Amino acid sequence: MDLSLPSAVRPLRGVAAVPGDKSLAHRAALFAALADGESVVGNYPDSGVTRSMRSALSALGRPSTLHDGVLRLAGGGLAPPGSPVSCGNSGTTFRLLAGALAGTGTAAVLDGSEGLRRRPMGRIADPLRMMGAEVETTDGHAPLSIRPAPLHGIEYSLPVASAQVLSCLQLAALGADGPSTFKVPGPVRDHTTRMLRAMGVEIEEDGLATRVHPASHLRPLRGTLPGDISSAAFLFVAAAIVPDSRITVEGVGLNPTRTGILDVLSEMGASVEVANARETFGEPIGDVTISAAPLHGVGIGGDLVVRSIDEFPAIAVAAAFADGTTTVRDAEELRYKESDRIAAIVAQLRALGADAAELPDGFSVRGGTVRGGTARANGDHRLAMSMALCGLGSPEPVVVSGAEILEESFPGFVHAIGSLRSGIIPSPIQLAKQE
Ligand code: S3P
Repeated sequence: MDLSLPSAVRPLRGVAAVPGDKSLAHRAALFAALADGESVVGNYPDSGVTRSMRSALSALGRPSTLHDGVLRLAGGGLAPPGSPVSCGNSGTTFRLLAGALAGTGTAAVLDGSEGLRRRPMGRIADPLRMMGAEVETTDGHAPLSIRPAPLHGIEYSLPVASAQVLSCLQLAALGADGPSTFKVPGPVRDHTTRMLRAMGVEIEEDGLATRVHPASHLRPLRGTLPGDISSAAFLFVAAAIVPDSRITVEGVGLNPTRTGILDVLSEMGASVEVANARETFGEPIGDVTISAAPLHGVGIGGDLVVRSIDEFPAIAVAAAFADGTTTVRDAEELRYKESDRIAAIVAQLRALGADAAELPDGFSVRGGTVRGGTARANGDHRLAMSMALCGLGSPEPVVVSGAEILEESFPGFVHAIGSLRSGIIPSPIQLAKQE
Protein backbone atom coordinates (compact mmCIF):
# COMPACT_ATOMS: atom_id res chain seq x y z
CA MET A 1 0.00 0.00 0.00
CA ASP A 2 1.23 3.49 -0.83
CA LEU A 3 0.53 6.25 1.67
CA SER A 4 0.72 9.96 0.97
CA LEU A 5 -0.24 12.65 3.51
CA PRO A 6 -1.05 15.91 1.70
CA SER A 7 1.01 18.95 2.60
CA ALA A 8 -0.36 20.72 5.69
CA VAL A 9 -1.19 24.21 4.47
CA ARG A 10 -2.91 25.04 7.76
CA PRO A 11 -2.08 24.15 11.38
CA LEU A 12 -2.95 20.82 13.01
CA ARG A 13 -5.26 21.44 15.95
CA GLY A 14 -7.31 19.42 18.39
CA VAL A 15 -7.34 16.53 20.81
CA ALA A 16 -6.37 12.99 19.90
CA ALA A 17 -6.12 9.61 21.59
CA VAL A 18 -3.62 6.90 20.73
CA PRO A 19 -3.81 3.10 21.14
CA GLY A 20 -2.97 1.51 24.49
CA ASP A 21 0.72 1.05 25.24
CA LYS A 22 2.19 -1.84 23.29
CA SER A 23 4.99 -2.63 25.77
CA LEU A 24 2.49 -2.82 28.61
CA ALA A 25 0.00 -4.78 26.49
CA HIS A 26 2.55 -7.51 25.76
CA ARG A 27 3.36 -7.79 29.43
CA ALA A 28 -0.26 -7.67 30.59
CA ALA A 29 -1.27 -10.59 28.34
CA LEU A 30 1.75 -12.73 29.15
CA PHE A 31 1.72 -12.09 32.89
CA ALA A 32 -2.05 -12.68 32.95
CA ALA A 33 -1.40 -16.10 31.39
CA LEU A 34 0.93 -16.92 34.30
CA ALA A 35 -1.47 -15.59 36.98
CA ASP A 36 -4.11 -17.40 39.04
CA GLY A 37 -7.59 -16.40 37.86
CA GLU A 38 -8.97 -14.12 35.15
CA SER A 39 -7.35 -10.80 34.23
CA VAL A 40 -9.37 -7.96 32.67
CA VAL A 41 -7.40 -5.20 30.94
CA GLY A 42 -8.97 -2.11 29.32
CA ASN A 43 -7.70 0.08 26.45
CA TYR A 44 -5.95 -3.00 25.07
CA PRO A 45 -4.54 -2.26 21.60
CA ASP A 46 -5.50 -4.46 18.66
CA SER A 47 -2.51 -4.20 16.35
CA GLY A 48 -0.19 -6.59 14.52
CA VAL A 49 2.33 -7.05 17.30
CA THR A 50 -0.17 -7.46 20.14
CA ARG A 51 -2.01 -10.04 18.01
CA SER A 52 1.34 -11.88 17.78
CA MET A 53 1.52 -12.16 21.57
CA ARG A 54 -2.13 -13.17 21.91
CA SER A 55 -1.93 -15.84 19.23
CA ALA A 56 1.32 -17.20 20.68
CA LEU A 57 -0.38 -17.44 24.08
CA SER A 58 -3.34 -19.26 22.49
CA ALA A 59 -0.88 -21.77 21.03
CA LEU A 60 0.48 -22.19 24.57
CA GLY A 61 -2.95 -22.97 25.98
CA ARG A 62 -4.00 -19.45 27.11
CA PRO A 63 -6.49 -17.98 24.63
CA SER A 64 -7.91 -14.52 25.25
CA THR A 65 -10.83 -12.43 24.04
CA LEU A 66 -10.72 -8.77 23.02
CA HIS A 67 -14.00 -6.87 22.75
CA ASP A 68 -14.35 -3.08 22.76
CA GLY A 69 -10.76 -2.74 23.89
CA VAL A 70 -11.19 -5.08 26.87
CA LEU A 71 -8.88 -8.08 27.05
CA ARG A 72 -9.97 -11.07 29.12
CA LEU A 73 -7.56 -13.89 29.77
CA ALA A 74 -7.89 -16.79 32.21
CA GLY A 75 -4.52 -17.55 33.78
CA GLY A 76 -3.11 -20.90 34.82
CA GLY A 77 0.31 -21.20 33.20
CA LEU A 78 1.66 -22.28 29.82
CA ALA A 79 1.20 -25.68 28.16
CA PRO A 80 3.67 -27.21 25.63
CA PRO A 81 2.44 -26.43 22.09
CA GLY A 82 2.06 -29.05 19.35
CA SER A 83 4.21 -27.13 16.84
CA PRO A 84 6.61 -24.14 16.70
CA VAL A 85 5.04 -20.98 18.09
CA SER A 86 5.17 -17.98 15.75
CA CYS A 87 5.93 -14.60 17.32
CA GLY A 88 5.29 -12.83 14.01
CA ASN A 89 7.33 -9.65 13.77
CA SER A 90 7.40 -9.01 17.51
CA GLY A 91 10.75 -9.08 19.29
CA THR A 92 9.09 -8.34 22.62
CA THR A 93 6.78 -11.36 22.24
CA PHE A 94 9.74 -13.59 21.40
CA ARG A 95 12.11 -12.48 24.15
CA LEU A 96 9.57 -12.23 26.96
CA LEU A 97 8.01 -15.58 26.05
CA ALA A 98 11.43 -17.24 26.05
CA GLY A 99 11.93 -16.13 29.66
CA ALA A 100 8.47 -17.26 30.72
CA LEU A 101 8.91 -20.67 29.06
CA ALA A 102 12.25 -21.18 30.79
CA GLY A 103 10.86 -20.03 34.14
CA THR A 104 7.82 -22.31 33.94
CA GLY A 105 9.75 -25.28 32.52
CA THR A 106 7.59 -25.44 29.39
CA ALA A 107 9.06 -27.06 26.26
CA ALA A 108 8.51 -25.05 23.07
CA VAL A 109 10.11 -23.82 19.86
CA LEU A 110 9.76 -20.08 19.17
CA ASP A 111 9.97 -18.70 15.66
CA GLY A 112 8.88 -15.60 13.74
CA SER A 113 8.96 -13.57 10.54
CA GLU A 114 12.03 -13.24 8.30
CA GLY A 115 12.64 -9.86 9.95
CA LEU A 116 12.49 -11.37 13.43
CA ARG A 117 14.85 -14.17 12.40
CA ARG A 118 17.47 -11.51 11.65
CA ARG A 119 17.37 -10.07 15.19
CA PRO A 120 19.93 -11.17 17.82
CA MET A 121 18.74 -13.82 20.30
CA GLY A 122 22.10 -14.85 21.77
CA ARG A 123 21.59 -11.94 24.18
CA ILE A 124 18.79 -13.90 25.88
CA ALA A 125 20.02 -17.45 25.23
CA ASP A 126 23.43 -16.94 26.91
CA PRO A 127 22.20 -15.69 30.31
CA LEU A 128 19.27 -18.15 30.27
CA ARG A 129 21.84 -20.95 29.92
CA MET A 130 23.79 -19.50 32.85
CA MET A 131 20.61 -19.99 34.89
CA GLY A 132 20.55 -23.65 33.83
CA ALA A 133 18.01 -23.40 31.00
CA GLU A 134 18.29 -25.75 28.05
CA VAL A 135 18.09 -23.34 25.15
CA GLU A 136 19.19 -23.77 21.55
CA THR A 137 19.25 -21.02 18.94
CA THR A 138 19.91 -21.12 15.24
CA ASP A 139 23.32 -19.40 15.17
CA GLY A 140 22.17 -16.92 17.79
CA HIS A 141 18.83 -16.34 16.05
CA ALA A 142 15.29 -17.72 15.84
CA PRO A 143 14.10 -20.44 15.74
CA LEU A 144 14.93 -21.03 19.41
CA SER A 145 14.00 -24.15 21.35
CA ILE A 146 13.60 -24.54 25.10
CA ARG A 147 13.41 -27.76 27.10
CA PRO A 148 12.37 -27.97 30.77
CA ALA A 149 15.32 -27.74 33.18
CA PRO A 150 15.71 -26.64 36.81
CA LEU A 151 16.88 -23.00 37.05
CA HIS A 152 19.07 -21.42 39.69
CA GLY A 153 19.35 -17.79 40.75
CA ILE A 154 22.28 -15.87 39.24
CA GLU A 155 23.93 -12.46 39.36
CA TYR A 156 24.30 -11.09 35.86
CA SER A 157 25.32 -7.78 34.29
CA LEU A 158 23.63 -7.26 30.94
CA PRO A 159 26.06 -6.09 28.22
CA VAL A 160 23.26 -4.08 26.51
CA ALA A 161 20.68 -1.73 28.02
CA SER A 162 17.70 -3.77 26.83
CA ALA A 163 14.33 -3.98 28.60
CA GLN A 164 13.41 -7.02 26.52
CA VAL A 165 16.46 -8.93 27.73
CA LEU A 166 16.01 -7.78 31.34
CA SER A 167 12.31 -8.75 31.27
CA CYS A 168 13.13 -12.16 29.78
CA LEU A 169 15.55 -12.85 32.64
CA GLN A 170 13.21 -11.46 35.30
CA LEU A 171 10.48 -13.82 34.09
CA ALA A 172 12.85 -16.80 34.11
CA ALA A 173 13.94 -15.79 37.63
CA LEU A 174 10.40 -16.33 38.91
CA GLY A 175 10.98 -20.07 38.46
CA ALA A 176 14.54 -20.26 39.87
CA ASP A 177 15.55 -21.91 43.16
CA GLY A 178 16.59 -18.57 44.72
CA PRO A 179 16.74 -14.82 44.03
CA SER A 180 18.52 -13.45 40.94
CA THR A 181 20.14 -10.03 40.51
CA PHE A 182 20.32 -8.38 37.11
CA LYS A 183 22.21 -5.17 36.43
CA VAL A 184 21.68 -3.06 33.31
CA PRO A 185 24.38 -0.71 31.92
CA GLY A 186 21.88 2.19 31.73
CA PRO A 187 18.24 2.85 32.68
CA VAL A 188 15.72 0.81 30.63
CA ARG A 189 11.92 0.77 30.71
CA ASP A 190 10.86 -0.77 34.02
CA HIS A 191 7.33 -1.91 33.10
CA THR A 192 8.06 -5.54 34.01
CA THR A 193 9.26 -4.62 37.50
CA ARG A 194 6.22 -2.41 38.13
CA MET A 195 3.67 -4.91 36.82
CA LEU A 196 5.15 -7.99 38.49
CA ARG A 197 5.26 -6.11 41.80
CA ALA A 198 1.60 -5.19 41.36
CA MET A 199 0.93 -8.91 40.93
CA GLY A 200 2.64 -9.72 44.23
CA VAL A 201 6.23 -10.53 43.21
CA GLU A 202 9.01 -9.34 45.51
CA ILE A 203 11.51 -7.28 43.51
CA GLU A 204 14.14 -5.09 45.16
CA GLU A 205 15.75 -2.22 43.28
CA ASP A 206 19.20 -0.80 43.86
CA GLY A 207 20.18 1.77 41.24
CA LEU A 208 20.48 -0.08 37.96
CA ALA A 209 20.12 -3.52 39.60
CA THR A 210 16.93 -5.48 40.33
CA ARG A 211 16.78 -8.53 42.58
CA VAL A 212 13.90 -10.83 41.68
CA HIS A 213 12.60 -13.40 44.13
CA PRO A 214 11.02 -16.64 42.86
CA ALA A 215 7.21 -16.63 42.79
CA SER A 216 4.80 -19.41 41.96
CA HIS A 217 1.57 -17.41 42.33
CA LEU A 218 0.74 -14.13 40.60
CA ARG A 219 -2.42 -12.09 41.27
CA PRO A 220 -4.50 -11.44 38.15
CA LEU A 221 -4.50 -7.96 36.59
CA ARG A 222 -7.35 -5.45 36.63
CA GLY A 223 -6.76 -2.05 35.05
CA THR A 224 -6.66 0.18 32.01
CA LEU A 225 -3.57 0.68 29.87
CA PRO A 226 -2.25 4.20 29.24
CA GLY A 227 -1.95 5.52 25.68
CA ASP A 228 1.29 4.59 23.93
CA ILE A 229 3.79 7.46 24.01
CA SER A 230 5.63 5.73 21.15
CA SER A 231 2.53 6.14 18.95
CA ALA A 232 1.80 9.63 20.31
CA ALA A 233 5.35 10.59 19.26
CA PHE A 234 4.23 10.76 15.61
CA LEU A 235 1.45 13.20 16.48
CA PHE A 236 3.83 15.22 18.67
CA VAL A 237 6.29 15.56 15.80
CA ALA A 238 3.49 16.44 13.36
CA ALA A 239 2.42 19.24 15.71
CA ALA A 240 6.01 20.41 16.17
CA ILE A 241 6.81 20.71 12.44
CA VAL A 242 3.58 22.25 11.07
CA PRO A 243 3.63 25.99 11.90
CA ASP A 244 1.04 27.24 14.43
CA SER A 245 -0.12 23.72 15.32
CA ARG A 246 -1.21 22.84 18.83
CA ILE A 247 -2.42 19.36 19.68
CA THR A 248 -3.20 17.47 22.86
CA VAL A 249 -2.92 13.72 23.28
CA GLU A 250 -4.87 12.55 26.31
CA GLY A 251 -4.01 9.76 28.73
CA VAL A 252 -0.46 9.15 27.51
CA GLY A 253 1.88 6.89 29.51
CA LEU A 254 4.63 9.03 31.06
CA ASN A 255 6.90 6.44 32.60
CA PRO A 256 10.17 8.42 32.95
CA THR A 257 12.07 5.68 31.08
CA ARG A 258 9.93 6.44 28.00
CA THR A 259 9.62 10.24 27.91
CA GLY A 260 12.84 11.08 26.04
CA ILE A 261 10.78 12.33 23.05
CA LEU A 262 9.33 15.14 25.19
CA ASP A 263 12.80 16.23 26.30
CA VAL A 264 14.12 16.10 22.73
CA LEU A 265 11.24 18.15 21.27
CA SER A 266 11.43 20.67 24.06
CA GLU A 267 15.20 21.03 23.59
CA MET A 268 14.61 21.55 19.85
CA GLY A 269 12.34 24.48 20.70
CA ALA A 270 8.78 23.05 20.65
CA SER A 271 6.48 23.86 23.55
CA VAL A 272 5.64 20.80 25.68
CA GLU A 273 2.99 20.96 28.41
CA VAL A 274 1.85 18.09 30.63
CA ALA A 275 -1.44 18.37 32.52
CA ASN A 276 -3.79 16.21 34.54
CA ALA A 277 -1.10 13.92 35.95
CA ARG A 278 -2.54 10.65 37.26
CA GLU A 279 -1.69 6.95 37.51
CA THR A 280 -2.93 3.75 35.92
CA PHE A 281 -1.48 0.26 36.29
CA GLY A 282 1.23 1.67 38.56
CA GLU A 283 2.37 3.88 35.67
CA PRO A 284 2.27 7.71 35.55
CA ILE A 285 0.07 9.17 32.79
CA GLY A 286 -1.05 12.65 31.71
CA ASP A 287 -2.37 14.81 28.88
CA VAL A 288 0.41 16.13 26.66
CA THR A 289 0.06 19.30 24.57
CA ILE A 290 2.65 20.12 21.92
CA SER A 291 2.74 23.49 20.19
CA ALA A 292 4.81 24.26 17.13
CA ALA A 293 7.74 26.66 17.31
CA PRO A 294 10.79 27.14 15.11
CA LEU A 295 12.89 24.02 15.75
CA HIS A 296 16.66 23.92 15.88
CA GLY A 297 19.09 21.01 15.61
CA VAL A 298 20.39 19.32 18.79
CA GLY A 299 22.91 16.69 19.87
CA ILE A 300 21.39 13.52 21.39
CA GLY A 301 23.37 10.88 23.29
CA GLY A 302 23.81 9.06 26.62
CA ASP A 303 20.79 7.95 28.67
CA LEU A 304 18.44 10.05 26.55
CA VAL A 305 18.96 7.50 23.77
CA VAL A 306 17.43 4.61 25.76
CA ARG A 307 14.60 6.86 26.97
CA SER A 308 13.80 7.60 23.29
CA ILE A 309 14.88 4.29 21.78
CA ASP A 310 11.75 3.71 19.65
CA GLU A 311 11.32 7.37 18.73
CA PHE A 312 14.33 7.98 16.48
CA PRO A 313 12.41 7.58 13.21
CA ALA A 314 10.07 10.35 14.44
CA ILE A 315 12.94 12.44 15.88
CA ALA A 316 14.69 12.24 12.50
CA VAL A 317 11.65 13.95 10.95
CA ALA A 318 11.72 16.76 13.52
CA ALA A 319 15.43 17.11 12.72
CA ALA A 320 14.70 17.27 9.01
CA PHE A 321 12.43 20.28 9.57
CA ALA A 322 14.70 22.05 12.10
CA ASP A 323 17.29 24.76 11.53
CA GLY A 324 20.81 23.37 11.60
CA THR A 325 22.07 19.84 12.15
CA THR A 326 20.88 17.18 14.62
CA THR A 327 23.36 14.49 15.61
CA VAL A 328 22.44 11.21 17.36
CA ARG A 329 25.26 9.18 19.04
CA ASP A 330 25.43 6.20 21.47
CA ALA A 331 22.54 4.59 19.56
CA GLU A 332 24.06 1.48 17.95
CA GLU A 333 21.11 -0.56 19.31
CA LEU A 334 19.01 1.06 16.58
CA ARG A 335 20.71 -1.31 14.14
CA TYR A 336 18.91 -4.28 15.80
CA LYS A 337 15.31 -3.03 15.69
CA GLU A 338 12.54 -3.88 13.19
CA SER A 339 15.10 -2.80 10.60
CA ASP A 340 18.64 -1.47 10.87
CA ARG A 341 17.08 1.85 11.78
CA ILE A 342 20.29 3.88 11.37
CA ALA A 343 20.73 2.71 7.79
CA ALA A 344 17.00 2.83 7.03
CA ILE A 345 16.33 6.32 8.43
CA VAL A 346 19.29 7.77 6.56
CA ALA A 347 18.53 5.96 3.28
CA GLN A 348 14.85 6.94 3.27
CA LEU A 349 15.48 10.58 4.24
CA ARG A 350 18.01 10.73 1.42
CA ALA A 351 15.44 9.25 -0.95
CA LEU A 352 13.35 12.33 -0.11
CA GLY A 353 16.29 14.62 -0.92
CA ALA A 354 17.42 15.27 2.65
CA ASP A 355 21.01 15.70 3.73
CA ALA A 356 21.47 12.80 6.19
CA ALA A 357 24.51 10.69 7.08
CA GLU A 358 25.16 7.43 8.93
CA LEU A 359 27.53 7.30 11.88
CA PRO A 360 28.68 3.99 13.39
CA ASP A 361 26.46 4.57 16.46
CA GLY A 362 23.88 7.02 15.15
CA PHE A 363 23.16 9.49 12.38
CA SER A 364 23.05 13.17 11.51
CA VAL A 365 20.41 15.17 9.63
CA ARG A 366 20.75 18.71 8.28
CA GLY A 367 17.38 20.43 8.56
CA GLY A 368 15.48 22.16 5.77
CA THR A 369 16.65 19.78 3.06
CA VAL A 370 13.65 17.44 2.51
CA ARG A 371 12.30 17.86 -1.02
CA GLY A 372 9.84 14.98 -1.53
CA GLY A 373 9.63 11.77 -3.55
CA THR A 374 9.12 8.10 -2.75
CA ALA A 375 10.35 6.43 0.44
CA ARG A 376 10.11 2.75 1.43
CA ALA A 377 8.83 1.48 4.77
CA ASN A 378 11.32 -1.43 4.76
CA GLY A 379 8.95 -3.62 6.77
CA ASP A 380 9.24 -1.16 9.69
CA HIS A 381 6.02 0.38 11.06
CA ARG A 382 7.77 3.36 12.60
CA LEU A 383 9.69 4.17 9.45
CA ALA A 384 6.42 4.10 7.47
CA MET A 385 4.75 6.68 9.72
CA SER A 386 7.83 8.89 9.96
CA MET A 387 8.41 9.12 6.25
CA ALA A 388 4.70 9.85 5.72
CA LEU A 389 5.01 12.78 8.18
CA CYS A 390 7.68 14.33 5.95
CA GLY A 391 4.90 14.93 3.42
CA LEU A 392 3.20 17.38 5.80
CA GLY A 393 5.98 19.91 5.29
CA SER A 394 7.86 19.00 2.11
CA PRO A 395 7.71 21.22 -1.01
CA GLU A 396 6.88 18.19 -3.19
CA PRO A 397 4.61 15.25 -2.26
CA VAL A 398 5.94 12.24 -0.35
CA VAL A 399 4.72 8.72 -1.12
CA VAL A 400 5.59 5.85 1.25
CA SER A 401 5.49 2.37 -0.25
CA GLY A 402 4.81 -0.67 1.93
CA ALA A 403 2.98 1.59 4.41
CA GLU A 404 0.49 -1.13 5.43
CA ILE A 405 3.13 -2.24 7.97
CA LEU A 406 2.02 0.67 10.19
CA GLU A 407 -0.85 -1.62 11.27
CA GLU A 408 1.75 -3.33 13.46
CA SER A 409 1.47 -0.61 16.09
CA PHE A 410 -0.83 2.29 15.11
CA PRO A 411 -3.68 1.19 12.82
CA GLY A 412 -5.48 4.54 13.36
CA PHE A 413 -2.49 6.71 12.40
CA VAL A 414 -3.93 8.10 9.18
CA HIS A 415 -7.29 8.71 10.79
CA ALA A 416 -5.65 10.49 13.75
CA ILE A 417 -3.71 12.87 11.49
CA GLY A 418 -6.87 13.36 9.43
CA SER A 419 -8.97 14.31 12.43
CA LEU A 420 -6.36 16.85 13.58
CA ARG A 421 -6.64 18.63 10.26
CA SER A 422 -10.37 18.02 9.70
CA GLY A 423 -12.52 21.11 9.43
CA ILE A 424 -9.44 22.88 8.19
CA ILE A 425 -8.64 20.99 5.02
CA PRO A 426 -11.75 19.65 3.27
CA SER A 427 -10.08 16.85 1.35
CA PRO A 428 -9.55 13.63 3.33
CA ILE A 429 -6.16 12.05 3.72
CA GLN A 430 -5.15 10.28 0.54
CA LEU A 431 -4.69 6.67 1.35
CA ALA A 432 -4.30 5.25 -2.10
CA LYS A 433 -3.91 1.58 -2.86
CA GLN A 434 -1.71 0.90 -5.86
CA GLU A 435 -1.34 -2.27 -7.89
C1 S3P B 1 10.59 -2.98 24.46
C2 S3P B 1 11.90 -2.65 24.67
C3 S3P B 1 12.74 -1.97 23.67
C4 S3P B 1 11.89 -1.36 22.56
C5 S3P B 1 10.82 -2.28 22.07
C6 S3P B 1 9.88 -2.67 23.20
C7 S3P B 1 9.84 -3.64 25.55
O1 S3P B 1 13.63 -2.91 23.09
O2 S3P B 1 12.73 -0.97 21.47
O3 S3P B 1 10.06 -1.68 21.04
O4 S3P B 1 8.61 -3.68 25.49
O5 S3P B 1 10.48 -4.12 26.49
P1 S3P B 1 15.02 -3.26 23.82
O6 S3P B 1 14.72 -3.47 25.21
O7 S3P B 1 15.54 -4.50 23.17
O8 S3P B 1 15.89 -2.08 23.57
